[in-house]
Amino acid sequence: MPRVQVEGFTSADAAEGQTLLEFCEEHGIPMECACGGFAACNSCRVEVLDGEGALSPVVEEEHDFLDAPNQRLGCQAEVLGDVSVRLASGM
Ligand code: FES
Repeated sequence: MPRVQVEGFTSADAAEGQTLLEFCEEHGIPMECACGGFAACNSCRVEVLDGEGALSPVVEEEHDFLDAPNQRLGCQAEVLGDVSVRLASGM
């Protein structure tokens, strides 16, 4: 199983294909989700610290909300392998 580390919160196994938002909800990590997970806000944004290639490809809708190449929307990024992220809401 892929291992997900969320800086300052937890490191745990994730189901392959689970989004980072789903992972955070499962583990009680306070990732915000203002639009309900429809790629229509940036409240679930994360900074990928390691393992960017272990996430599903960036979807077109994300481009409007990302300021840097190492950022993703947690509701859109599916876990495919080991990855380390930092919650970036409020950046
Ligand atoms: S929850 Fe709004 S973009 Fe992810």
